[in-house]
Amino acid sequence: MPGAAPGRTKRQFVPVSARSAMPGSDPAPAPAGKPPAACWPLILETRGWDDYALLDFGHGRKLERYGRIVVDRPEPQAMGAPRLPEKRWLSADAVFTGNDEDDGPGRWRLNRDLPETWQMRFHDVRFLGRFMSFRHVGVFPEQAAHWQWMAERVAARKAAGGKPMRILNLFGYTGLASLVPAAAGAEVTHIDASKKAIGWARENQAMSGLDELPVRWICEDAVKFVAREVKRGNRYDGILLDPPKYGRGPKGEVWDLYESLPALMPMIEEILSPEADFLVLTAYAIRASFLSLHELMAETLSRRGGVLASGELVLREEGGSRALSTSLYSRWSAS
Ligand SMILES: C[S@@+](CC[C@H](N)C(=O)[O-])C[C@H]1O[C@@H](n2cnc3c(N)ncnc32)[C@H](O)[C@@H]1O
Repeated sequence: MPGAAPGRTKRQFVPVSARSAMPGSDPAPAPAGKPPAACWPLILETRGWDDYALLDFGHGRKLERYGRIVVDRPEPQAMGAPRLPEKRWLSADAVFTGNDEDDGPGRWRLNRDLPETWQMRFHDVRFLGRFMSFRHVGVFPEQAAHWQWMAERVAARKAAGGKPMRILNLFGYTGLASLVPAAAGAEVTHIDASKKAIGWARENQAMSGLDELPVRWICEDAVKFVAREVKRGNRYDGILLDPPKYGRGPKGEVWDLYESLPALMPMIEEILSPEADFLVLTAYAIRASFLSLHELMAETLSRRGGVLASGELVLREEGGSRALSTSLYSRWSAS
């Protein structure tokens, strides 16, 4: 793997029970186990596929092709100059104008008659694109690096004669990160606070002809769901979480990444099965380094051994030498 493993300071695992102990009481003894080996920075690159290409970027915007539709959207990380001629940009099918902040207002301007939704594909999984108010179209293509990796691990365990992997996808949105591993043989539980997003994910499942796959679609607050799983004693072999900076559960529960994520991670550790294979965390649009995610994951997994790789998810420009950073990630695997 690229990226040298840096020297690590020794850290002590603090079990959840000890964290809530009264001041002055003796902490519980640290359980046996060793921390994961660190591997950072590791840049995971998505080069695009039939239904996705990063065509150009610069001057705060990016030009992408989703299926046959070319979109021009704000991209604060595109600080250099675009490379394609202006006429390519002007011929985009849809342009997002307005505020270029992730959560600000703005709108899509369609330059020709376009369907409300359109179909795309990633291997066995078909999915719908749709122009969303927050400048998204329902898919985060750079996540393909994680989809593919999870699918390979699920298939490898199956090929080795193991039981189907049980996977939990928190903040699952339109379901690609649930459907890709499910198509590879996993049993997946998908959690999202939005009924609309769950409906869209189920549409993607039906359109892919994958209705028979064991996916549980649950509309619930991610933190409440995990807390309940801890109590019920349910365990997962792989967990993926891609939390937003701010969000709301179905009953108005507040999600604030900086506060909610550190509180969630010890519970995530509790619901990882003893045979767990992976844990993947991604974060967009936060003021932090990948190292912040890495250290939080290292603390969470401090007795699990394995390898903890962290870095950025980037998109490689089609036919070009440039790459565009999109998000931070930290990804643990047992081997
Ligand atoms: C940016 S999307 C995640 C992207 C997705 N994992 C992917 O790769 O396509 C964030 C999702 O988190 C959901 N969400 C926000 N707050 C939540 C909460 N408290 N509990 C569960 N889901 C939440 C939103 O409904 C939204 O679908």
